[in-house]
This record gives sequence, structure tokens and C-alpha cells, in this order.
Amino acid sequence: DKGNHRHFMQKEIYEQPVVVAQTLKSYLRRLENQVAMPDMDFDLTAIHRVTIVACGTSFYAGMVAKYWFERFARIPVDLDVASEFRYRDPVLEPGGLALFISQSGETADTLAALRHCKANGQTIAVVVNVPTSSMAREADLLLPTHAGPEIGVASTKAFTCQLAVLAALAARFARVRGLMSAEDEAGIVEHLAEAPAGMNAALGHDEDIEAMAHLVAPARDVLYIGRGPDYPMALEGALKLKEISYIHAEGYAAGEMKHGPIALIDDKVPVIVLAPSGPLFDKTISNMQEVQARGGRVILISDAAGIAAAGEGCMATIEMPAVHPLIQPLVYAVPVQLLAYHVAVLKGTDVDQPRNLAKSVTVE
Ligand code: M6R
Repeated sequence: DKGNHRHFMQKEIYEQPVVVAQTLKSYLRRLENQVAMPDMDFDLTAIHRVTIVACGTSFYAGMVAKYWFERFARIPVDLDVASEFRYRDPVLEPGGLALFISQSGETADTLAALRHCKANGQTIAVVVNVPTSSMAREADLLLPTHAGPEIGVASTKAFTCQLAVLAALAARFARVRGLMSAEDEAGIVEHLAEAPAGMNAALGHDEDIEAMAHLVAPARDVLYIGRGPDYPMALEGALKLKEISYIHAEGYAAGEMKHGPIALIDDKVPVIVLAPSGPLFDKTISNMQEVQARGGRVILISDAAGIAAAGEGCMATIEMPAVHPLIQPLVYAVPVQLLAYHVAVLKGTDVDQPRNLAKSVTVE
């Protein structure tokens, strides 16, 4: 049931504050100000390496998680898409945790990669949305997302719920490895708990974003750029746009622009820049200015301070609330989802059932 929404995707975008809160409920102990994890029958302190494997949007959640695991827990992370990982003969040493991320829990390549890791002595953890799925059944550690059924082929709420679980796991890892004080953990809990409100504030810009869709819909190519965790968010924004609007879109690490893609820039290629205030802001903005100097037309997604500092000369800006860096990816997911959605609606595509795509890719 779509309720009063036109498409399942739209409904699922709007459900995010609620389902992320629902998911966080099982990973945060608010009274004790601690992260909560299901019981583990292995020793998390003995894990020396994490291998993250997934496909599509779930892979981008894994890419964000790599930044977090490395930064907070100082644990080495290997990351790959399942279709490459399973055929590249990866080095899997004892003491490794293999982490699989999947909405459906049935994606063929991810499941095959899981079985390969299991056969090679890895401890298996899964972040899945379908608790009865094959991946859920075969895991040593099941970390469910509570997004509820996701019907739209384009993944939205499952993604942000995955991010919520992965952030909590990063904090737990950091804590058991002695890299995070109880006080810092309490801070993380506070910030994560603010994510639903941040996402709600982002949803408040839906009408502006809908108006902006006219700027993007006529384009043949669109670029998305960001740095740090906003790099995977750029990839995710581009994937959302291409899968439902059929416009060619690419996500790039902002610093890679001058290594090739900037050659594409002219006034017909909209560039979506994800640049929250923070240590990487100036660097991203200088890449944005290089685009503008070549006639590129920019939509800047940032917070009020970022827009005040760099918004002039942009074709449009989308203002996000100023939130803690840890929850930025959850909040910035919303505008890129909404932009893709409104462009697709303008183009009249089948938003929930885009051509050539299946909700769950159970064949190779
Ligand atoms: O069920 P999974 O999370 O394993 O699915 C992975 C991808 O097939 C999926 O995320 C796909 O990329 C979506 N259509 C993206 O919106």
C-alpha cells in the first residue's frame, strides 16, 4: 500500500526517519548511553581485519563503513563488490571478519562470496533487511536492519538503515579495541540518535528539490562529486539517478576531477556537489570552482555555513541541517534520493519498476 504517495520509492524515502529510528532502537541503549550489539559467540577483540563485500547500493553503504571502521577503530578494511571479490582469489587470513551487506539477503554474488569466506575460515557477519534470508541463516553474527519491506527497485530506506547499523558497529569495534572512551561512545550514541531528526529536516526541502529537477531532467550526463564519506554518497546519488531516470550519471571523488572527468564539463552537464562543512569542505569547494571556471553548472548540497561561504555562482543550492559528520551520510542520502525521484517523475519513467532491473539479483 502506497498510502498517499504516488510511488513506493517516494513512500520509502519518507519512511526513513521512522525506520532508521526503529533500527537504531536495537543498536543503542539510550539510558546507559551505549551502543548495543547482539550476543556474539566469537571474540571481537581478536578480529584483525574486516573484509566488506556487497553489491550496488549496499556496496556504497560498505564504502562509507570503511571510512568509519578505519577512522574510529583503526582496523584494516578490505572492500569489494561481490562479483569481483569472489573471482579474484582474495587473501583471507585467520582472525578475519567478513561482513556482507544486503537488503534482500539473497543476492547471488554476495551469497557466493559469503560461502567462499566461510569455507576459508572467516567469521561471517551480515547486515540484512530480510531476517529469514539465506545470508541471515548462514551468518555467525546477524545484524538486522528494520527498514520493513522495501518494494521500490531503487534502494532507499534499506540503505540508510544499513548506515545506522554500520555506524553502531564501528563504535563497538572502536570501544573493544580501546580506541574510544565511554564518554566518546556516549557522544556517538547522542549523534546517532539525532539522525532521524536530521533526515526529517532534509525531507523538508522536498519542494525545492522538486523544483530543481527541471534543471537536471534535460541533461544527457550528470556528475556527482564528494570527498571522504561523501564520495560513496556521490556514487550512490549517480546510481539512483541512472537507474530510475535513465540519465547517464557518474560519481567521482572530487579530487579525481582533474584526472579526467573535468574534460566532460560544459554548460550542459549539471554537477551535483556534496560538501558539508568540515575538514574536507575547502578542498571540495576548490574542485567545484574548477568546474564552474569551465562553465559547469553546479547544484551544491551543503549546510547553511557552507552555502553562505560557497553558494554564490551555483545554479542551485540545497540546504541540509548542520549535523555531526558521523550522521552526514544518512542525512545527505535524502536529497540525492529525492532529486533522482523527481527527475524520474518528470521524465515519466516507471519509478518503482525501472526497465531491465530486478529488485533482487538472484542470478549471476
Ligand atoms: O539486496 P541487495 O542489497 O543485496 O541488493 C544489492 C543491489 O542489487 C541493489 O542495491 C541495487 O543496486 C539497487 N537497485 C540500488 O538501488
